[in-house]
Amino acid sequence: MSSEPKTVFVGLAGLGNVGAGVYKNLIRNGDILTDRTGVRIKVKRIAVRSLEKYTDMQIPEGMLTTDWRDLVNDPEIPVIVELIGGVTEAYDLVKTAILAGKTVVTGNKALLAGHGYELIALAEQEDVPLYFEAAVAGGIPIIKAVREALIGNHIQAIYGIINGTTNYILTRMSDAGLSYEDALGEAQALGYAESDPTLDVNGWDAGHKAIILAWLSYGDWVKPEQVYVEGVTHLTQTDLKFARSMGYAVKLLGVIRLDATNRIEVRVQPCLIPQTNIMANVHGVMNAVAVYGDIVGETLFYGSGAGQNATSSSVISDLADAVDNLTNEAGDNNGFVPQGHYGACLPVDETVSRYYLRLRVDDRPGVIASISKIIADHGIGILSLQQPEVDPGADADLMLMLHQATFGKMKQAVAAIAGLECVLAPPVLLRVESLKAREG
Ligand code: HSE
Repeated sequence: MSSEPKTVFVGLAGLGNVGAGVYKNLIRNGDILTDRTGVRIKVKRIAVRSLEKYTDMQIPEGMLTTDWRDLVNDPEIPVIVELIGGVTEAYDLVKTAILAGKTVVTGNKALLAGHGYELIALAEQEDVPLYFEAAVAGGIPIIKAVREALIGNHIQAIYGIINGTTNYILTRMSDAGLSYEDALGEAQALGYAESDPTLDVNGWDAGHKAIILAWLSYGDWVKPEQVYVEGVTHLTQTDLKFARSMGYAVKLLGVIRLDATNRIEVRVQPCLIPQTNIMANVHGVMNAVAVYGDIVGETLFYGSGAGQNATSSSVISDLADAVDNLTNEAGDNNGFVPQGHYGACLPVDETVSRYYLRLRVDDRPGVIASISKIIADHGIGILSLQQPEVDPGADADLMLMLHQATFGKMKQAVAAIAGLECVLAPPVLLRVESLKAREG
């Protein structure tokens, strides 16, 4: 019979959806974690905003506090889990914890995207590990995959469906014909959305994750203001149906890749991707991240991108690394990723892809001629063109698939088209991605 395992105490800041999952699942799978790590991982204190909310969770007396400093100042707690969300207070908490010599586990992608450069440098300076598996793609171990499993590769490109809420919305709109609002309501009820779902639907939750993936891949931080982000709020059934009829699915895609001059392209946009690509069949809350390495080729990581259990699985994995590092003298898994500087970015206007363009137009002679003239004048080729028949006098949808062009050139053409009298509503422009290691 082996001796009683050592206990490592954890301070849990935040008992929302994910925090509650961490608390419950650490108890549920505590024995197997102890078997595997040789350590009993125990939550000692939990910081919450209001004590009253948690009466039905059977939290032991005295465990809750409304001040996260009680966790950081407790000498018996070497590990702090930050799951309070938001940026301002989370930044104070993480910085204070690092300066107090605590190991930090966070799932806060907005915090890392905005302050990762500084916090990682501080953690290195203080020689304190900082773990963040739950910050990207929920339950998918993509941080470990890129940082550890693909360590011998130059990363050529990453394409990610990295927001569960928007993938759920697009799936339900496309498969069940739900309105955008109803689909969002379902995603919120299922606990996928951020407390403020604006960050999900405007694309920024995915944008923050893309910044973290870019840093992991290239060692450089891209500033949020250098990232081009579009959400899904402007997508309609019409576009999803048109896309499907041509053999494409519409997905909110994070694109992270290097161009030939080593500039980093980081953007998030709803894109048409071929139905024949496995990524097009990633439905509901599921996420998928395709990573191209120069040695390994294409790899694909798939799993639940949001939700209590999936995300808590990633936090618990970080906790296992944290206690290993704390208790094992040979432990060297300190969570650091080399970081250089703020990297050179490829301006979005110079990024290249094919495009889908839908226009609401008058159905009368000369409309297609005037639109195609503008497109030709901008040096862009038309791949195909469709206009479903409408009753005489009714407005029509004109849908064009366009050859490769820079985004800058494409936007100029669309602005000119939007100014035509025959164009009755703001044009819908979506990128078409081939999901290859290099575009082109
Ligand atoms: N709101 C996020 C999502 C949770 O929907 O993907 C995981 O980061």
